[in-house]
Amino acid sequence: MEPVEIAKGVYHVGVKDWNIRDFHGYSTECGTTYNAYLIVDEKVVLIDTVKKEFADQMLSNISEVVDPKKIDFVISNHTEMDHSGALPRVMHYIGEDKPVLCSKMGHKNLSAHFDQKLNYRPVENGEELSIGSRKLVFLETRMLHWPDSMFTFDKTEGILFSSDAFGQHYAGYEMFDDVIDNAIMPHAKKYFANILLLYAPKILKLAEQITEMGLDIRMICPDHGIIWRKDPAKIINAYVTWSKQIPLNKAVVVYDTMWKSTRKMAEAISDGIAETGAAVRPIHIRSSDRSNIMTELLDARAMVFGSPTINNTIFPTVADVLTYVKGLRPKNRMGTAFGSYGWSGEAVKIIREELEAMGAEIIDPGLRIQYVPDTGAVAQCVDFGRKIGAAVNG
Ligand code: FEO
Repeated sequence: MEPVEIAKGVYHVGVKDWNIRDFHGYSTECGTTYNAYLIVDEKVVLIDTVKKEFADQMLSNISEVVDPKKIDFVISNHTEMDHSGALPRVMHYIGEDKPVLCSKMGHKNLSAHFDQKLNYRPVENGEELSIGSRKLVFLETRMLHWPDSMFTFDKTEGILFSSDAFGQHYAGYEMFDDVIDNAIMPHAKKYFANILLLYAPKILKLAEQITEMGLDIRMICPDHGIIWRKDPAKIINAYVTWSKQIPLNKAVVVYDTMWKSTRKMAEAISDGIAETGAAVRPIHIRSSDRSNIMTELLDARAMVFGSPTINNTIFPTVADVLTYVKGLRPKNRMGTAFGSYGWSGEAVKIIREELEAMGAEIIDPGLRIQYVPDTGAVAQCVDFGRKIGAAVNG
């Protein structure tokens, strides 16, 4: 259905990737989009490109608006290859001497991705550029989420081309917030939890800067998912809330199991937490995906991890999730551990140390049950859950 004119003279010329289900380890149940935008003014400007394999599709989208050879320059807001993969093909087609505007780090990073010698023109933070009836300004957003990331703001029309920020991995015919409404928010939350949580302090600073600069943002065009045109403040405010990491009275019980003993513990512990009125969600790791687990953890006060002991250590899937969660640096959390074991039982201690390394407040040193939990052990688990629930409720 592309191209779509999303504002006067501004076209969405990106593509929908309906079938992708694994975006470098992030589960994309609804596919994703690679949004690219064409501004047709006195100058014709392309903002970002798409994944390499969609290059011709994007050129064909552009052709329906204007001959791609008429593009005067390309702006690369971000080097990651879902947005720059098609750049060599596009530049080859439109003319390799045409300027590619990017941040200083973008120049460095794009040069490290592609052999092709392109006419990179690094821009300064705050630099303005008139393209006819409208003026663009470039805003460096280093580490949101790569060193090269920047925003391009159309000052005249109030359109923020925000690169990955405010995006969602969601492919659909609903292209705008007013069409899809709140149904997009779980996708935006998952995107934040898995891509941006690590940079929460920078997001809070950026939100302050945007307020100080008095940017009149009337539309936000991210590089993935829907466009925020009815209420751009809604996603900015959600980012501020998520970045503050003020958790809810909620525990997530994340576990794996070998012979269902750790599962039995997880369910009894969850029952105990639920009895206290705290929200709780038990998640079996191999029935879920690490990116969905991280989304549940985003607003949880307690991270409760369970693992059987295998070969004197934790179960590999639990190690995977712990490594992933630790990398995203959740703050203001509590945690504890549990697990069934046969003879050595190191898993609980290892998990506790991982939680401590994340800065989580340890609710309890942890609960170990040998082999299969009997009625008494199940009651112990329920009690353990009540203790977690009481801590979560504060
Ligand atoms: Fe959508 Fe950081 O790439």
